[in-house]
Amino acid sequence: MSLPTPTSDSRAVVTGASSGIGAALADELAARGYSLIIVARRAELLNALASRLSSEHGVQVEVRAVDLSDPAARAPLATELAERDISVLCNNAGVATFGPVAELDHDVERDLVQLNAVAVHDLTLAVLPGMLARRSGGILITGSAAGNLPVPNNATYAASKAFVNSFAESLRGELSGTGVNVTLLAPGPVRTVTPDPADASIVDKVLPDSLWVTSESVAKDSLDALGRNKMRVVPGIVSKVMSVGGGYAPRALSAPIIGKLYRKFGEGS
Ligand SMILES: NC(=O)c1ccc[n+]([C@@H]2O[C@H](COP(=O)([O-])OP(=O)(O)OC[C@H]3O[C@@H](n4cnc5c(N)ncnc54)[C@H](OP(=O)(O)O)[C@@H]3O)[C@@H](O)[C@H]2O)c1
Repeated sequence: MSLPTPTSDSRAVVTGASSGIGAALADELAARGYSLIIVARRAELLNALASRLSSEHGVQVEVRAVDLSDPAARAPLATELAERDISVLCNNAGVATFGPVAELDHDVERDLVQLNAVAVHDLTLAVLPGMLARRSGGILITGSAAGNLPVPNNATYAASKAFVNSFAESLRGELSGTGVNVTLLAPGPVRTVTPDPADASIVDKVLPDSLWVTSESVAKDSLDALGRNKMRVVPGIVSKVMSVGGGYAPRALSAPIIGKLYRKFGEGS
């Protein structure tokens, strides 16, 4: 059950393609011959990426500048994807907030849930009927190692990622034998840009270089895993420890320790 062969009519969709893991996924898909629809809010970054990928790889790249946290802005994209031949969907756009949820902006937290969880659900449901009818397709969902366990001071993010972690792995079970692959990408820390020491985040300062993985390696590993219909891809040692820890450590003991660590992230961000 490998991924569909790229054709001139079909498209691979990547959300959150204007930077980080999403940009690397778009790059890797284009290098594998897939024409793309790339989605994020910053049109200028998407347009620059589209021009580069078209000229480097000879693929077609369509840009959709959409705020995926806004249901009204998201709806026309979902309708378009439902009507087109979508071979691969990488549900990757996501943001995080840090700090006690009671002190955070209510609207920002609600938008985070819309983006990280509801949009993933909407776009997946939009492409599924077409993929099932064609008996081929691949859906990659970017969750997080943080979705495996309680994370005080990162509560809305961790809960949104718990939703997509569970949704991806449950959906994969439902689609067994249909020709549609589903893989959860559950990363820990991924270094998406080389930090300037002057304004490095607390996470950059706390974690040594050896514990980071790059967005390029994550993109390659994720698409390879999706082609093999692997349940979950967990890049890097930190995410593997968080995965195993989330499964076996007593949650009442791990939550306060993790909460203290994430409080520091909140203070440093
Ligand atoms: N990097 C890590 O260590 C790490 C670890 C675990 C999980 N993840 C997950 O990996 C995914 C990618 O993260 P990243 O590290 O690559 O971060 P990033 O570089 O900040 O990329 C986030 C992407 O999401 C897009 N986005 C944000 N808000 C959006 C909105 N309202 N509507 C549409 N697009 C929006 C951003 O584009 P615009 O700003 O242009 O809209 C950007 O393209 C996220 O789901 C994140 O939770 C990352």
